[in-house]
Amino acid sequence: MAKVKTLAEFIVERQHEFTYATGELSQLLTSFRLAGKMVNREVNKAGLAEDILGAQGSENVQGEQQQKLDVYANDLFIRMLRNQGMVCAVASEENDDVVHFDNGGKYVVTMDPLDGSSNIDVNVSIGTIFSIYRRVSTGPSATLEDFMQPGTAQVAAGYLIYGSSTMLVYTTGHGVNGFTLDPSIGTFCLSHPNMTTPPDGSIYSVNEGNWHEFAPDVRAYIEDCKKRKMSARYIGSLVADVHRNLLKGGIYLYPGTQKAPKGKLRLLYEANPLAMIVEQAGGMATDGTTRILEITPSALHQRTPLYIGSRAMVEQAMKR
Ligand code: AHG
Ligand code: MN
Ligand code: MN
Repeated sequence: MAKVKTLAEFIVERQHEFTYATGELSQLLTSFRLAGKMVNREVNKAGLAEDILGAQGSENVQGEQQQKLDVYANDLFIRMLRNQGMVCAVASEENDDVVHFDNGGKYVVTMDPLDGSSNIDVNVSIGTIFSIYRRVSTGPSATLEDFMQPGTAQVAAGYLIYGSSTMLVYTTGHGVNGFTLDPSIGTFCLSHPNMTTPPDGSIYSVNEGNWHEFAPDVRAYIEDCKKRKMSARYIGSLVADVHRNLLKGGIYLYPGTQKAPKGKLRLLYEANPLAMIVEQAGGMATDGTTRILEITPSALHQRTPLYIGSRAMVEQAMKR
């Protein structure tokens, strides 16, 4: 039997690629590796948790078991990151403001702890998205400036997908590697080394329910896709849609609409980390005109239109 490489082994083996001190990346990624396993365990019993814990929870004055999975995941990732000491503050989709640890840690993290949360109760793939930045400020506490760096400043980005199997995919700017959780041993094993995305594809992923809200150029591009007999695939979990398209070739688009000119997705928690991964795999990510990674954020929860996937398809969409 071929030797299986675990995520822990792989991180150690490749830590020289990390610009900063050896061992730091390993510690940073460990939080996501461990918390990801714990979220996975909860995701796998989501149906049970709703029926059993929900009923119990209604009699529980503490109300602890009534936590929704996205709050559970958020608390868990934050706790792991706080304990580990390298991260000074976290910006999460689930918190209005930055969560400060005031520990002088050299890094800050942004995350979408549970992506696709409308799919939790219906047994459809969901995920976690994260990104790691080196602080620009010094001193014990992080500042907003640390989070207002463009995506090009990410030192690492990754996602977990809780699907038909559970995977962790990450990059430090030296290619993309994917690890599948072997539930029998509780370990992530290297299953997708050096992931690359096809330069072109035949899948388009967009919520066409918003058709009447789309600008003419967006509609024209979607018409192009139909004329070329492409397959429409839309899960409604960004991580899962992007992961599938990354492997098979395709485009995911969440354009601006009349009501929401910047679309729905968040630059810091969703677009930037996925853009780094997709670019590292040979793909492309823009907001329709500008490369996602070159946008300088001006607000924590800033939204951005997103066109992401196979290079030829994103280029085509931008020509419209
Ligand atoms: P989240 O669950 O973190 O709020 O993200 C949901 C996002 C994303 O995962 C998905 O692609 C998109 O919302 C779906 O939005 P629509 O239902 O508007 O298509
Ligand atoms: Mn999300
Ligand atoms: Mn979310």
